Amino acid sequence: MSPLLKLEDLSVSFATPRGNLRAVKNVSIELQKGESLGVVGESGSGKTVLSRATMGLLPSTATRTGKIIYKDQDISQLPRNEVRDLWGTGMAMIFQDPMTALNPVRRIGTQLTESLTVRLGMSKKDARAKAIELMKRVRIPDPEGMLKKFPYQLSGGMRQRIMIAIAVSCSPEMLFADEPTTALDVTVQAQVLELLTELRKEFNMGMILVTHDLGVVAGHTDKIAVMYAGDVVEYAPTRQLFNNMKMPYTEALLKSIPRLETPTGTRLPVVEGRLPDPTKNEPGCSFANRCPYATDKCRTETPPLTDGGNQHFYRCWFPIGGGK
Ligand SMILES: Nc1ncnc2c1ncn2[C@@H]1O[C@H](COP(=O)(O)OP(=O)(O)OP(=O)(O)O)[C@@H](O)[C@H]1O
Ligand SMILES: [Mg+2]
Repeated sequence: MSPLLKLEDLSVSFATPRGNLRAVKNVSIELQKGESLGVVGESGSGKTVLSRATMGLLPSTATRTGKIIYKDQDISQLPRNEVRDLWGTGMAMIFQDPMTALNPVRRIGTQLTESLTVRLGMSKKDARAKAIELMKRVRIPDPEGMLKKFPYQLSGGMRQRIMIAIAVSCSPEMLFADEPTTALDVTVQAQVLELLTELRKEFNMGMILVTHDLGVVAGHTDKIAVMYAGDVVEYAPTRQLFNNMKMPYTEALLKSIPRLETPTGTRLPVVEGRLPDPTKNEPGCSFANRCPYATDKCRTETPPLTDGGNQHFYRCWFPIGGGK
């Protein structure tokens, strides 16, 4: 079966005053219909840029190369308006910050019905009925009352449910969920993830779940791509990744999974040190200066993406447990 989405050598860079910033480097991943892929990495690793690049949502300062094959068609070559036609019904996105993604001065009802009238050509009355049905589906209490509210009147969890309702309103075939639970407390986080997984199965949607938290993807994805400094550094089916972790960076991420007693919204230092400057193009492994196992080879020679078998790929000279 050909994949729903296939990225081939996708790269994105930005022209900045400090030089060319390489945000995403030669990423190749694929997603089947109904499948869920977790994209994991700390802040600045390129997760949002990867999602936006795939959806054709980059600013004009960005340069994108590589292929984006959606249902056997390379959409990276399509004119902007034809890519836009895919939004909503083909690909939809839940944006990282629901407060800025929702329009603060427009009622929830208007925002929910808009894509239904515009994209699906529904009448106002039908769109209203569908909006209520969608809100029931994402378990919003009193959906009729909700139509008249403004975003600031909602809790974080309710805003996120509205975002999900909007994203799935036109029955997309694939959904990008960019940090859909970061701002939520642990209990609500679990409910929102459950809801996303339920909807994915019900609509047989492909889903790319973006997060900095390996714990979030563990129970809700079929496979995982770990990103570091714009590279996919480890890529494997979820169970394989957790049973046979190869990258020291992935191991460090795993150790940083927040405990229950950690206050909501705390950004934990993932590993000592920082990401390398994305405008510099240094040789060697980009994680070498923070890696407890790094040798001189790691600091001077860039490790290639190695196929370790069992659909497990990693970018490391000295993988945990040895190679292959
Ligand atoms: N419009 C832009 N112009 C210049 N650089 C950008 C732009 N957008 C993103 N970047 C840079 O691209 C890199 C990747 O950013 P991205 O937002 O994808 O990270 P992320 O993994 O989503 O992080 P977070 O977890 O904080 O959301 C960063 O170095 C960021 O500063
Ligand atoms: Mg992001």
